[in-house]
Amino acid sequence: MITVVLLGAGNVATHLYKAFKASNAVTIVQWYNRNYTAISSYANEVDITDDLSKLKEADLYILAISDDSISKVSKDLPFESRLVAHTSGSVSIHDLDKKNQRAVFYPVQTFSKEAELDFSETPICIEVTEKQNLQFMKNLVQALGCTPYRITTEQRQTLHLSAVFVNNFTNQLYRIAHEISDAKSINFDILKPLILETAKKVQNMSPYMAQTGPAKRNDKKTIRRHLKQLENEEHKAIYELLTASIKKTHGQR
Ligand SMILES: NC(=O)c1ccc[n+]([C@@H]2O[C@H](COP(=O)([O-])OP(=O)(O)OC[C@H]3O[C@@H](n4cnc5c(N)ncnc54)[C@H](OP(=O)(O)O)[C@@H]3O)[C@@H](O)[C@H]2O)c1
Repeated sequence: MITVVLLGAGNVATHLYKAFKASNAVTIVQWYNRNYTAISSYANEVDITDDLSKLKEADLYILAISDDSISKVSKDLPFESRLVAHTSGSVSIHDLDKKNQRAVFYPVQTFSKEAELDFSETPICIEVTEKQNLQFMKNLVQALGCTPYRITTEQRQTLHLSAVFVNNFTNQLYRIAHEISDAKSINFDILKPLILETAKKVQNMSPYMAQTGPAKRNDKKTIRRHLKQLENEEHKAIYELLTASIKKTHGQR
């Protein structure tokens, strides 16, 4: 049985808590958050605390906390030589205080507390500073039904950068589309099957092959009309930038 102390109570920690709870191979020894009320409703399921000095012994301490607090909290941990991991895509493993053994447990997914998801579908990127902890981290990932990927800090940071393109930027484009359609009283639901199909297509096809639309076809007339329809200068600039990028990729001028 793998024992874990979970630190943090945000989007990632909440999903991790549920995934660990559901695993027969993992026990959550304790759940820490600096703000007690965020976890108080779990008091009848797990030992909870808002006091770092009261942390219990476990095989692993997972810091699922904001990127800019990882370094300080890892320094404040009241023990040494234990295994401590963070869950960030962009923070270096070396930001964890070296008084403990260090690891990264980066789940490549977008987590919101309110949005349910099947955690076992999440790829987990792992990193360790001590080689002897590698198998342990792989075992933990597999105990959740997930696939482990061993990567370097540089690869993880590049993966995080790629994730910003496929997730945050794409989502911002959804928001703009929502605003544009709302302005003309068009129900955003009409676009949802298109959103799903676009994401589904790249599961079996390269993004290059999956591209369609006026920029790829170099349909100048439609592009001109779209630019005329756009009232917001920022939306226009984004349309022009992405159109130029698609044209360049597909050899159009
Ligand atoms: N959200 C995602 O989709 C996602 C995906 C992969 C990886 N990650 C990574 O996972 C980590 C957590 O992200 P999240 O989205 O769960 O963040 P979040 O929802 O904003 O939650 C942040 C947590 O950190 C705690 N915290 C912040 N500053 C702290 C401090 N100085 N001392 C102690 N605790 C502190 C907060 O405590 P309070 O409740 O007291 O404010 C809260 O529990 C980050 O490293 C993030 O990069 C996020």
